[in-house]
Amino acid sequence: MAAQTIESVLHEQRLFQPAAAFVEHARIKKHELETFQQQAVQDHEKFWAGLAREQISWHKPFTQILDSRRAPHFRWFGDGLLNVSYNCLDRNLKDKAGKTAIIFEGEQGDVRRVTYAELHRDVCRFANALKAKGIKKGDRVVIYMPMAPEVVVAMQACARIGAIHSVVFGGFSAQSLKDRIEDAGAKMLITADGGTRGGKVIELKLAADQALAKGCSTIESVIVLKRSGQTIPMQSGRDVWWHDAVKNVSDQCEPVWVESEHPLFLLYTSGSTGKPKGIQHSSAGYLLGAIVTMQWVFDIHDDDIFWCTADVGWVTGHSYVAYGPLATGATMVMYEGAPTIPDGGRFWDICQRHGVTIFYTAPTAIRGLMKLGDDLPAKYDLSKLRLLGTVGEPINPEAWMWYHKHIGRERCPITDTWWQTETGAHLIAPIPGAVATKPGSCTLPLPGIAADVVDEEGNSITQPNQGGYLVIRKPWPFMLRGIWGDEQRYIDTYWKKFNNKYYVAGDTAHKDEDGYFWIMGRADDVLKVSGHRLGTMEIESALVAHPRVAEAAVVGKPDEIKGEAVFAYVVLKGARPTGGVDEALTKELRAWVTEQIGPIARPDDIRYADNLPKTRSGKIMRRLLRSIAAGEAITQDTSTLENEAILLQLQGKA
Ligand code: PRX
Repeated sequence: MAAQTIESVLHEQRLFQPAAAFVEHARIKKHELETFQQQAVQDHEKFWAGLAREQISWHKPFTQILDSRRAPHFRWFGDGLLNVSYNCLDRNLKDKAGKTAIIFEGEQGDVRRVTYAELHRDVCRFANALKAKGIKKGDRVVIYMPMAPEVVVAMQACARIGAIHSVVFGGFSAQSLKDRIEDAGAKMLITADGGTRGGKVIELKLAADQALAKGCSTIESVIVLKRSGQTIPMQSGRDVWWHDAVKNVSDQCEPVWVESEHPLFLLYTSGSTGKPKGIQHSSAGYLLGAIVTMQWVFDIHDDDIFWCTADVGWVTGHSYVAYGPLATGATMVMYEGAPTIPDGGRFWDICQRHGVTIFYTAPTAIRGLMKLGDDLPAKYDLSKLRLLGTVGEPINPEAWMWYHKHIGRERCPITDTWWQTETGAHLIAPIPGAVATKPGSCTLPLPGIAADVVDEEGNSITQPNQGGYLVIRKPWPFMLRGIWGDEQRYIDTYWKKFNNKYYVAGDTAHKDEDGYFWIMGRADDVLKVSGHRLGTMEIESALVAHPRVAEAAVVGKPDEIKGEAVFAYVVLKGARPTGGVDEALTKELRAWVTEQIGPIARPDDIRYADNLPKTRSGKIMRRLLRSIAAGEAITQDTSTLENEAILLQLQGKA
């Protein structure tokens, strides 16, 4: 998309100053933020090095800060040694052994509290179980589990022995799981009999078995957590129950000290082309990002009850469930299920019962719950809440105002956090005791984050409200370190556009008169469905893998709750169904995509056409397809279309 064509349509004027009561206890006040900003501008590397020395417990302190010799491959704190699990657990044992680390609530209402001492013990035992199965530093372990304390135990145990975990969201299909296991070359899979969500059992072990039956030759063993209790087959020699694996092992496990740059995890995410890519994160830099953003953006205090509703299958569940809260010694809530079980008051009920003080969720959840009415949250005592957050996609001002009024009761600041799987932690977000907010804006970059908006040539856009590409001008410690097994793709995707000078986020944005950032959306063909990232290419490949499909084009269609919905245009092998309608096939194709990728990728609409609109050079006219999906008038030039009558088919009018 050309930057000149990026126009901003939002003109939000409201400004919310942080309330005095909040500011009084805030970790960072306005003058402190200004000092931080100045320090970061004066000496970027020294700023980050100071924080890394202060916030991380090092086994061997680093002397080198940033190594840019192989830019855009950057190394931070290169000669230091540390262990992330030590930083999350052991160092809390002195003062916080009896403090609750996790308050877990199952969808059925079962509640379990785990203290730091217990979590440390469980992680040590599980780490020893991994070692007993031959897992060593650098081995990849895929985790495909429901939301339960054990998933955090599994991730932390990998970190403890230097194994690289790759969590695959439980909603992904067997096929997606297989692709990720194979790409990572994983030696072990950790899963569960099943999970529960929305009252339904998710057949995790079944899907895992299907994935392994299709290939995954590197997998040597599978550890299975008993959670749903359903009967599942166990393959002898390969599968072992979690409770058996930890039976005869010690509850002491010396952490493996790793180099700062040792990969902590891979997390697969969608891009605009090709298969999902394994985003690789470091140990020290990543940990630092999780810690400082917990402090700055979430203003975490010792007595807070922090709840991030994200699943650990996404980066938000890594930084703000599995690592950030523990590394800052916080107490967090973890919830297994859906927000609507038994009704749309479940989130507010959990906030009330567990005394949640900081609540972090996605715009799609806010919009979905907003639709259910104001009387639901009104039933609950939300007086303990002091800070709200949102992530994953732009939040529309209407949803922001509802969140502010009905959940925050006009008392809690809202921190709209812009970041990505690749960025590791928040990059642009209001520091709640120091920065006034505007509904729909993620406000200002954090100290040490050189965010900017540039035009097609890579020049800074100085004129307010003019859209362009969102870039980060300087490396930061918690940035991705690469794409697993594909160095060229790392450069092509994030750096090439502006000659390796800046990190290119793939979003379009503009800054207003106050320098506030407004994210406008993706500049590429990545969809955001309920805040989850899906590549149009991936869904198209899944569709064309169906024996009856010749060609497919997928675009996003604006959706009131999900943000975007999947809209697919399909050309069949053979004749188009009469009048463009074939309900049985549509049903079959929707089920097919679910099987290939997972329910989140299932198309909401499928439209059949004799062919797809293409430019003379053969490129699919996606903007045209997007306009049609949105039901907008067609303003694009369609004179190059071979068969203009096709437009009626695409519009569902013929
Ligand atoms: O388009 C931006 C959008 O989500 C993308 C990153 O997606 P993912 O890697 O799945 O990570 C989501 C959780 C960090 C971004 O490129 N995005 C994320 N947060 C925001 C956002 N768009 C607007 N406002 C946000 N706060």
